[in-house]
Amino acid sequence: MAIRRQSSAAASLLLPPVAALLFLWMFGGGHVMAHTEIRNMTALQKHVSFFDRNKDGIITPSETFEGSVAIGFNVTYAREFATLVHAANGPITSPADAPLPHLSIYIENMQRGMHGSDTGAFDVKGRFVPQKFEEIFIKHAKTRPDGLTYLEVEDMILANRDPLDPASWEGPQIEWGGIYNVASDNDGFLHKDDARGIYDGSVFVKLEEKRAFSHHSAM
Ligand SMILES: *[C@@H]1O[C@H](CO)[C@@H](O)[C@H](O)[C@H]1NC(C)=O
Ligand SMILES: *[C@@H]1O[C@H](CO)[C@@H](O)[C@H](O)[C@H]1NC(C)=O
Repeated sequence: MAIRRQSSAAASLLLPPVAALLFLWMFGGGHVMAHTEIRNMTALQKHVSFFDRNKDGIITPSETFEGSVAIGFNVTYAREFATLVHAANGPITSPADAPLPHLSIYIENMQRGMHGSDTGAFDVKGRFVPQKFEEIFIKHAKTRPDGLTYLEVEDMILANRDPLDPASWEGPQIEWGGIYNVASDNDGFLHKDDARGIYDGSVFVKLEEKRAFSHHSAM
């Protein structure tokens, strides 16, 4: 069970062992009810809420891992993704009195996780900004107007990089790269409606259903 030690920050915060997660789940989750109803959520909160498998408002690293596998990330990538996402967002979204280690993500505080090097299609409060989303396709969808190739996704990520904030570079890479891999079509296009669905989490639901269906029909 090797996790690639590529980033020291992520590597020093490997996922807690199963026993610890179970403990957190039993005593940390469950009874804590969601603080925000789905319809009151910002786009950013909806975006992450897919990974809150038990809908208690708190996303544990194991929930992110499970959700990532559910949308089609392989186990290695899902583990890396979960480690990175929680190392970055757990400490800043956890309230001071939350149980240690602060690796769980508290959805009500998700806007604190806004960082540099993203597309700008979430504002500082985590609301969706349609003009910024349109700009992604106006600037980068050069092959066809309603889809992005892998190279166009890469161009977009590079163009958005905040040169003063290298720590923020890896997140968009691993997120867009992962989504591109599971959501692009056979001709290599990530469709605009699927890209839009990243911003409210709806594409995750769609991918999970698609994957469950294809597994089912393969039997
Ligand atoms: C959701 O929003 C409605 C309307 O603004 C408000 O009345 C309600 O209290 C909110 N619920 C929560 C849990 O924030
Ligand atoms: C897992 O997925 C990542 C990203 O999609 C890919 O680069 C990697 O080769 C995959 N690894 C395996 C073992 O399939």
